[in-house]
Amino acid sequence: MTDAGIRAEIGVIGGSGFYELLKEAEEVAVETPYGEPSDAICVGEVSGRRVAFLPRHGRHHSHAPHKINYRANMWALRSLGARRVLAPCAVGSLRRELGPGTLVVPDQLIDRTSGRVQTFYDDGAVHVSFADPYCGHGRTALLKAAAGAGPEAHDGGTMVVVEGPRFSTRAESQWFAAAGWTLVNMTGHPEAVLARELGLCYSSIALVTDLDAGIDADESVSQEDVFKVFTENTALLRSVILEAVQLLPEHAECPCARALNGMDLPFELP
Ligand code: ADE
Repeated sequence: MTDAGIRAEIGVIGGSGFYELLKEAEEVAVETPYGEPSDAICVGEVSGRRVAFLPRHGRHHSHAPHKINYRANMWALRSLGARRVLAPCAVGSLRRELGPGTLVVPDQLIDRTSGRVQTFYDDGAVHVSFADPYCGHGRTALLKAAAGAGPEAHDGGTMVVVEGPRFSTRAESQWFAAAGWTLVNMTGHPEAVLARELGLCYSSIALVTDLDAGIDADESVSQEDVFKVFTENTALLRSVILEAVQLLPEHAECPCARALNGMDLPFELP
């Protein structure tokens, strides 16, 4: 259930440093058939556009990546009216040249999670296309926004999503890099596919917080470093998201917006 008056066209799901994104924000606690989202959702305006912000881990960072209610989060954003979702996230880098502080707009995803619920459709035959997991229009907006806000974001890359909450072993990390993958993260899946299953245009911008364990023989990732680099770059990421919101086209004409066309869904979407 939602407060019927509170609506947004764009959703942002990310770290709690994004609260300051929104002017004249109102908070709304959204109930979903899948339980509670990570926190109350903040809805307000960015340059005349209505935006709903949800802190992925909760405002006090109380939800570990493997415990996030990804279904409730995506459902809640859609039930407020959001049809585009921008998803900033922290990542480890599998390539030395993409060091801490680099922004990357990934174009592919590998799922190495286990045991996470990754569909809304346990009944019926609903098989969404997921060849391109991120919305092209959203990616373009994020890339342009980053170029305007500071150093250009790296265009493209494969993000492997691990179950966590531990970081990868050196061997796992070397294996991911040898496979040609670019980034490693713990939250990008099933978030992206659940967005697709709701017909949402979803795109992500990744902030590199560390070089993952396989890059340097004697270094490993620490939570302290990850949080430190993320905090240092929150203002940059926030200005990229602010700009990207303005650049998103008003009408979605991308394939992901048509992902559910012609499908016989077992229930009505909010
Ligand atoms: N998030 C930030 N850095 C990470 C890493 N090295 N591995 C997995 N998730 C991360």
